[in-house]
Amino acid sequence: MKIKDDVVLMKFDQLGDSRGHLVVIEGTKDIPFEIARIFYIYGSDNDIIRGQHANKESEFVLINVSGKSKVRIKYGDYEKIIELNEPHMGVYIPKMIWKEMFDFSKDSVLLVLSNLKYNPNEYIRDFNQYLKEKNKGEYTYENKS
Ligand code: TYD
Repeated sequence: MKIKDDVVLMKFDQLGDSRGHLVVIEGTKDIPFEIARIFYIYGSDNDIIRGQHANKESEFVLINVSGKSKVRIKYGDYEKIIELNEPHMGVYIPKMIWKEMFDFSKDSVLLVLSNLKYNPNEYIRDFNQYLKEKNKGEYTYENKS
């Protein structure tokens, strides 16, 4: 389900049998990019807000492989909260989308896949700076074919 400007809610196939489930994610097949980096976030209290940044280059898929959390995405004035609460659901977040992760359950393990290795210089951690960069018009997804 497309949410806004290429933020996409994804449901992955649940493989498996009577022994349990298995989810497979292959780069460029099940998600829109090759995977260069994975990291995961856990042990955050439910009053903690993580993220609070946009990326000039990195794209992400976020999956709560255990527990649940919420992701607030902002694209300019647009704002939406997505709850990640199943191990076979994810959200694809393209570059230049502001994101905040919050409301972590105690058992939350939030897995993040990215198309690029870590580069702190491509993170925008100031919301006004993000708006300024976005409004330069170099990141207009509406025009993407
Ligand atoms: P940060 O981006 O603040 O985490 P979050 O977005 O979840 O709130 O990163 C926390 C720390 O980890 C910070 O010191 C940078 C470091 N880090 C890496 O070294 N590599 C990575 O790929 C990421 C995502 C973070």
